[in-house]
Amino acid sequence: MNRSTVVAPPGIPGPQRRKRPGRRLLTILLGVLLAGAVVAVNIPTVGTALTDRYHRYQITRPAYEAKYGLWVKLDIPARFRVNGIHSTLLHNGDVLIMAGSGNNQTFFDAGTFKTLLLNPVTMRERLIHTPWDLFCAGHIELPDGNILVAGGTARYENLKPTHAGGSMTVVNDDPSQPWHLPKGTIFVGPGGVRFASAFALTIPAAKRHAALNGKAHVIAAKQNVWVDAVKKGKGSLMPAADRYVLRDLLGPANGRLYGVGTAMTLQKQDFQGTNDAYIFNTATSSFEDVSSMHYARWYPTLAEMGNGMVMTMSGLDGQGQVTVNNEMFNPATRTWAQGPVHGFPTYPATFLTEDGRLFFTGSNAGYGPDTPAWRTPGLWNTKTDGFQTVPGIPDPKNLETSASVLLPPAQKQSIMVLGGGGVGQSSTATADTRLIDLAAPDPHWVRGPDLARPTRYPITVLLPNDDVLVTGGSRYYRGMHGSDNRDTRIYHVATNSFSGAADSITGRDYHSGGILLPNGSVLTLGGNPLFGNKQDTTPETFNQEIDVYYPPYMFQGTRPRIEEAPTFMEPGHRYIIGVSEPSKIKYLRLMRPDNPTHVTDVNARSIAIPFQRVGGNDLDVTIPSNTNLIPPGYYMLFAVSRSGVPSTAAWVRVP
Ligand code: CU
Ligand code: CU
Repeated sequence: MNRSTVVAPPGIPGPQRRKRPGRRLLTILLGVLLAGAVVAVNIPTVGTALTDRYHRYQITRPAYEAKYGLWVKLDIPARFRVNGIHSTLLHNGDVLIMAGSGNNQTFFDAGTFKTLLLNPVTMRERLIHTPWDLFCAGHIELPDGNILVAGGTARYENLKPTHAGGSMTVVNDDPSQPWHLPKGTIFVGPGGVRFASAFALTIPAAKRHAALNGKAHVIAAKQNVWVDAVKKGKGSLMPAADRYVLRDLLGPANGRLYGVGTAMTLQKQDFQGTNDAYIFNTATSSFEDVSSMHYARWYPTLAEMGNGMVMTMSGLDGQGQVTVNNEMFNPATRTWAQGPVHGFPTYPATFLTEDGRLFFTGSNAGYGPDTPAWRTPGLWNTKTDGFQTVPGIPDPKNLETSASVLLPPAQKQSIMVLGGGGVGQSSTATADTRLIDLAAPDPHWVRGPDLARPTRYPITVLLPNDDVLVTGGSRYYRGMHGSDNRDTRIYHVATNSFSGAADSITGRDYHSGGILLPNGSVLTLGGNPLFGNKQDTTPETFNQEIDVYYPPYMFQGTRPRIEEAPTFMEPGHRYIIGVSEPSKIKYLRLMRPDNPTHVTDVNARSIAIPFQRVGGNDLDVTIPSNTNLIPPGYYMLFAVSRSGVPSTAAWVRVP
C-alpha cells in the first residue's frame, strides 16, 4: 500500500497528526540539509537534524505503529498552556486540566489560578475562572458527572522564613455571633509582639449547651490560622504557647474572641492546605462553591464508595501537618460528615473493594511518619476503622511516589503496585512491581515483572483491552540528574508481562498524569522537574506539553463499533446493545473516566460486562449488581474484538 500521506486512525481528526514525509520528500530534505551543511557553522547540529528526521521516519512506519503505537504532540496555543497537575475526563469528552497556582509562588502571591477546558478531538480550548488555589487538591467525578475538587493550597512552603511564624487558634467564647477576620488581622502577644494572619477565616459563634443540672454552659468555637510576625528577624520569636489579643477588635466582644498561639519560630514551614471545596459543573463549565470541609487538606485522596459517597482522606492541614481526620462527602446534600480518625500519608492509594472496604496499597506522595502503622498496606473499614494489614511488601517505606492500579477486569480484585522510592529526596528507587489478589482467601503480595528501570512517578493508564500503559516517571526525585524516563511499556494482564512501546516524546515526572480518551488513545500531561540539566545546576520550568499516545490496536485494522447502546444502565439489570460484528466481540468493558493527580487515580476501573449473542447484531448484556464493584457514575462502554482491538466508547450512566 502506498502510504505517502498518513491516514488518521478512525476517530482521530487528520490535522492533529503530523504528516509523515514520503520517501521523495525525505530525499529532497536530505539534499537541502546537506547543502546547508556547507555554510553551516555548527555541523553536529545538522547531523542531529538528520538523525531526528530518520528516527521520525522509522517510528511512523505502519509496521512500527501497529507494534509499538504512536505518540503525537498536541498543538496548544501559548495562551492556553497550563501546568497539567490535576486532570479529569468529562462525560462530554472534554478534559478538565486544573493547575491553580501550578506550583508557582509568583502566581500564588498574585492570586493567578488556572484551569483549562480542552477537547482533545476538536482542539477547542477555554480557560475557566478558578476561584481558589486548587493546586494539590483532591478531585473526583461524582455520580452525576460533575467534578468535586476539595482542598488546595493555603500557603506555599517556606524553607528559610525571614519572619517568625506559627499556628494561631482563634477562640470565640461569644455565643451571640460568628466573627469574620480578614487576611492580615493583627494578633498582639506578650511584650506587644505583633503577628498577622495569612488568610481570611470565619469563626462560628460559640454554642450553648444545656447541662443535666439545668445550668447552661458555653462551648467555644475554634479555628486555626497561620500567622507571620509583622517585623523581620529574631526579635519576634516566641518560645512558648501563649495568649494573644486581636488588636483591631473593638466593642463588647473584645476578650471573648482571642488567639492561642503556638511557639513562633523561624523553622522551615511546609505547604498548608485549605478546607475549600468546589464542584465543577459540566453543564455550565464553572466552579460552584460548596460547603467547606471540616479539615484543611493539601494532597488528599478522594475515593468513591459503592453508595456514591466520597471518602476524603489525609492531606496537610492548615498548619502543614498531615491530618488523621477523614470525612465523607454526600453528593446529594453537598455536605461533609466526620469519618473515622486514621492516619495515612498524603495522596494515599485506596481502592474500593467488593466487600466495601478500601484497600490501601501503600502508594503515597510522601509527608507523614514513615512508621509501619502509617505505611503498611491493608484493608480499611471506613465505618468501624478496622484495619487488616496485608503482609508481603518487604519495605513499605519504599512505596513513596509509586503507582497503583486496580487491574482489569475489576471482578478479579487484583491490584498492582509499580515502582516508587524511598522517603522524601532519598536516592533509592525500585523497578519492582507487586501484585495482590484480594479475592483470594488469604490475600498476600507476590512479585510481578520488573519495570525497565527503577522509576518514581510512573504514569499508569488502564486500556480497554485489559492492558495497562506504563510511561513516564523518573529514576530520581523530581527528575533530578536528568533522569526523566521516556521508555514506555504495556503490561498485559493475561500474560503478566510487559512488552515495549514507542518512547514518549517528552519526559514526565512529578505532577504528571495520563487519561484514556473515548477513542481509545491516551492523553498524557504534566511533569515538574527540579532541574533542566544532568548537573542539576539550572532550574527547570513545568512541562506544559500535552501528548496523545495511539496504542498499537489503533493501527491493527478494522475496529468494532458499538452501533446502539442505552445511555442509562442499572446494576443488576439486562440490556440489549448493538455492535458491528457480534461474532468478533471477545468482551465488553465499562470504564470509569480517568481523574489523575500526582500519578494517583484510585477510581479508575474497568468492569467486565457478561453478554450473550441474541441474533442480528444484538448482544444481551448483564450489568453486575454489586455497587462496590460498579459504583455510580458515568462510564465508557467499550467492545473489544477477538484480536484485542477496542471500539470507540459509548457513554453510559450507571445510577
Ligand atoms: Cu504536588
Ligand atoms: Cu485508624
